[in-house]
Amino acid sequence: MSANLATVSYIGATILFILSLGGLSHPETSRRGNFYGMAGMAIAVLATVFGPRVTPSGYAWIIIALVVGGSIGLYAAKKVKMTEMPELVALMHSFVGLAAALVGFASYVDPALHFEGIEKIIHEVEIYIGILIGVVTFAGSLIAFGKLNGKIGGKPLLLPARHWLNLAMLLLVVWYGREFINAKDISEGMTPLIIMTIISILFGFHMVMAIGGADMPVVVSMLNSYSGWAASATGFMLNNDLLIVTGALVGSSGAILSYIMCKAMNRHFISVIAGGFGAAPAAASGAAAQPEGEVTPLSSAETAELLREAKSVVIVPGYGMAVAQAQHTVNEIVQTLRAKGANVRFAIHPVAGRMPGHMNVLLAEAKVPYDIVLEMDEINEDFPDTDVVMVIGANDIVNPGAEDDPSSPIAGMPVLQVWKAQTSIVMKRSMASGYAGVDNPLFYKENNRMLFGDAKKMLDEVLVALKA
Ligand code: TAP
Repeated sequence: MSANLATVSYIGATILFILSLGGLSHPETSRRGNFYGMAGMAIAVLATVFGPRVTPSGYAWIIIALVVGGSIGLYAAKKVKMTEMPELVALMHSFVGLAAALVGFASYVDPALHFEGIEKIIHEVEIYIGILIGVVTFAGSLIAFGKLNGKIGGKPLLLPARHWLNLAMLLLVVWYGREFINAKDISEGMTPLIIMTIISILFGFHMVMAIGGADMPVVVSMLNSYSGWAASATGFMLNNDLLIVTGALVGSSGAILSYIMCKAMNRHFISVIAGGFGAAPAAASGAAAQPEGEVTPLSSAETAELLREAKSVVIVPGYGMAVAQAQHTVNEIVQTLRAKGANVRFAIHPVAGRMPGHMNVLLAEAKVPYDIVLEMDEINEDFPDTDVVMVIGANDIVNPGAEDDPSSPIAGMPVLQVWKAQTSIVMKRSMASGYAGVDNPLFYKENNRMLFGDAKKMLDEVLVALKA
């Protein structure tokens, strides 16, 4: 393939990536968006492999990498459960970071990439920053992976003088950057590069360890953004325009997502990434007030009875619906209630589940009509006029403590005000807390009922009772 054709293909792929992002911004167009993305990536890979910079002698290596990487990817994608998707995404981010770091080391020692004067400095700055971003993304994503799959606890690790520690690490990175640029040869430059890599690993670990469970959505989207910048940095090191643009698209859309997540959780971005910086001590230590009183359990038949009589119903899905894979039964219940003339809608909290858009994906899979799926801001004022709210496997996102308990770790996070409805029914298996590890006073409210059990099993029973 000629250089011109490769450039035209790259431009085509870039346009497809932009169209893909546009498509992914709405559930109705997201399928098309995915298709554009896949087509863009196929063109990008083909144009790179058959482009002027790969010689036929490299094909064997590329085929081996494709077969090994493709098989692992296929196996992982087939094996992963829907509830494990967030961890898988975090792991993928870590691979992007690792790739950027490895490319950085490779291009530093590559004799073909030997420059002089200002070009040498620019190349080395690209390498240094590329490895820095890559390693921070890699280390941070590994911790995020552990926190999302529960292997690492959700409580923030708040070391004494942690901000000074971060500052010291930053200053060391700048100092060793100077040493690296001033190094006379590769062997001299390798020492500061390796020291910076170790500092970046510690920084990445520390950054995500210091973030509490409730703030994880911001971390997930932030690492998504970092992985984009890491890819972009790789593009600079390899002098590949498409990688620069694609990385920047991922980086900036991830940054916008982080902003949206921060707004949804009423957090300052800097406070979150600095690990609870500015948070009240009680909030940081995760000591919320203990709710008191008794809960009122009810049966699936009683739930069906309440639903049958309700004219307006709002369903709040959460992580437990994903665990139970209850979305199809939920849809059947919705169809049954709508056929009886009830006004049924869904209320989606921006951080429900474990990844952005988690609930929307599940509901779309179950073919729930998009027009009855509403965002928190669109529906929060309607709860006082709602007869029954069904909270399915959700907890933190309906916790009134976020509004009225300043000592709660989720204080200030906007929540769905389900307790304002005439009756709320919470479906979950036990009295256990949610991801943020906070008790929920909603369960003890007078107008709240608890339907204990696996969401799928209980909803199946409710459906049978409704149809009877
Ligand atoms: P959670 O607060 O985690 O609550 C989920 C509830 O589902 C649990 O209390 C659990 O109670 C119940 N559950 C689990 N399996 C169930 C099953 N099979 N059947 C019925 N119930 C089941 O979830 P949420 O309300 O969706 O809130 C999301 C939380 O995750 C927030 O704290 C958010 O910050 C955090 N988070 C979100 C993201 C993103 S990007 N969305 C990323 C990371 C973290 P039982 O064990 O008693 O059943």
